[in-house]
Amino acid sequence: MPAPIALITGASRGLGREVARRLVEEGFTVLAGVRDPARMKPLPGAEVQPLDMCDPTSIAAAAAAILARHGRLDVLVNNAGILLDQMGEVLTLDPAVLRRTLETNALGPLALSQALTPLMPKGGRIVNVSSGGGQLSVPSNWAPAYCISKTALNAITVQLAAALKPRGIAVNAVCPGWVRTDMGGPEAPRSLQQGADSILWLVLKAGPEISGGFWRDGQRIDW
Ligand SMILES: NC(=O)c1ccc[n+]([C@@H]2O[C@H](COP(=O)([O-])OP(=O)(O)OC[C@H]3O[C@@H](n4cnc5c(N)ncnc54)[C@H](OP(=O)(O)O)[C@@H]3O)[C@@H](O)[C@H]2O)c1
Repeated sequence: MPAPIALITGASRGLGREVARRLVEEGFTVLAGVRDPARMKPLPGAEVQPLDMCDPTSIAAAAAAILARHGRLDVLVNNAGILLDQMGEVLTLDPAVLRRTLETNALGPLALSQALTPLMPKGGRIVNVSSGGGQLSVPSNWAPAYCISKTALNAITVQLAAALKPRGIAVNAVCPGWVRTDMGGPEAPRSLQQGADSILWLVLKAGPEISGGFWRDGQRIDW
């Protein structure tokens, strides 16, 4: 059996890099999606795939390159994300910040999924790295652009899961918890390993029939 092929977006640092590193260890062929390969610290065993989630041309080029080089993709981890308005309030939310955040955190993952699902066989998996901030069941007034974008990503997850069910492709959203990364900051209670474990459960451990859910640490959480 050939090694499964996984693309992880935002693999230059933080959770994406750790997920990519761990999947190399697991024997996957890992494509590390990074928007600036020149600044990427080498990630042994991974192939660097230039990919900017806000650039439709870059998304199309990445899909074409993966098709040409590998002919298929088994796992897509939509991990890349930005948090621009940690101190923001919805009543003064700058539309440009909202637009940029939606493009990166929700519209980019949708466009990439659309481009790559034709390459995915039965048993393929899409893992959308969301956040508890996107839960409508847990109202929040923190970081409105970020939270709105993650709620949108959750809705995209549900739509993709329904659309791809007939093809046997699983689509789920996952919250890694509050993790010590550049985004999470040094005060976060969780290590990179714990956050990555939450994401990797959907790649390595969840049954192929599990689709259309929102998960943290292998447990279903409310939308
Ligand atoms: N850390 C937490 O506590 C936490 C909690 C809940 C959810 N999450 C989610 O987990 C994911 C990873 O977060 P993190 O903490 O690892 O964040 P991070 O350390 O800030 O890393 C973010 C990654 O996303 C990439 N990225 C940003 N914009 C991009 C774009 N337009 N195209 C391609 N890549 C782009 C960055 O690339 P560059 O190096 O080029 O900037 C970087 O690799 C995010 O979706 C985040 O929302 C994190």
